[in-house]
Amino acid sequence: MQQPIEKLAIASDHAGFELKESLKEYLIQSGRVINDLGPENGDSVDYPDYGVRLAQAIATREADRGVVMCGTGVGMSIVVNRFPEIRGTLCSDVYTARLCREHNDSNVLIMGARVVGMGLAQAILSTWLNTPFEGGRHQRRLDKIKDINAILSKGEL
Ligand code: RB5
Repeated sequence: MQQPIEKLAIASDHAGFELKESLKEYLIQSGRVINDLGPENGDSVDYPDYGVRLAQAIATREADRGVVMCGTGVGMSIVVNRFPEIRGTLCSDVYTARLCREHNDSNVLIMGARVVGMGLAQAILSTWLNTPFEGGRHQRRLDKIKDINAILSKGEL
């Protein structure tokens, strides 16, 4: 059965703006539907504003997955992972991009525009988009993240 076309959201701050524009172009050329949540230019903005926008789009199912960038990717990582629906993964290499899909079912790809170049960012994105989640024991572990209180209440830590 053919998979429905995924809705992707993309956002950045000013430090990630150029990379966002370039990856958006790359995604459009590959036939993807993209919801660009801003910013519209490289003027200085605060990364939490755009990280929250992107996380919210996924939490409300307006988008299936998201791609978000700031200078290092660290600020965006902190912001998007405040949302329980988000499994945001900061990637600077293709190996992590593959494993965070196979093992962690990453639904937000985070990159540092001051860390990765354009070519590497494209390779990371393409790997992340095309790698399926493996499920099985990894799903059990994700279920534990959803219910952290169950681990705490065991009192074994
Ligand atoms: C902006 O200068 C920079 O702090 C931001 O893009 C990000 O790297 C924060 O974590």
